[in-house]
Amino acid sequence: MELTFAIIKPDAVKSRDTGRILQRIEDEGFQIRAMRMRHISQSEAEGFYAVHHERPFFASLTAFMSSGPCVVLALEAPDAIRKWRTLMGATDPAKADAGTLRKEFGASIENNATHGSDAPDTAAFELGYFFPGIELAR
Ligand code: CMP
Repeated sequence: MELTFAIIKPDAVKSRDTGRILQRIEDEGFQIRAMRMRHISQSEAEGFYAVHHERPFFASLTAFMSSGPCVVLALEAPDAIRKWRTLMGATDPAKADAGTLRKEFGASIENNATHGSDAPDTAAFELGYFFPGIELAR
């Protein structure tokens, strides 16, 4: 079993797609081990996305991520990191495969509905960033 970190981003919460995305998560066989709705500050978003801080879209990305509530999750499954990225689809919804969450719920490369860790070290950082010290429910 592996854990990954996921976000249902402010665009998808605002469009009331949270329930549909959670249903897809459970239908695909993930166990939700932790879940919280958070309206993060821009400085929290900056810390979370620190690896992107030289990118031209950093200010816009962190403003968007702090523009409204999001849902942060710890998801467990065999090969959870890869499995969740497959379910999300490509970063740009226009390039995402049919049936993926970003294709269905995303509007643009920034407003792309969901986030997922891309590797074990980033999953560990991201889980710790939003669920520090939490005992994951079993
Ligand atoms: P996410 O998986 O959360 O990781 C970093 C985010 O940066 C990514 O999803 C996109 O929402 C955003 N992003 C990546 N590339 C661009 C881009 N070229 N323009 C705007 N936002 C981007």
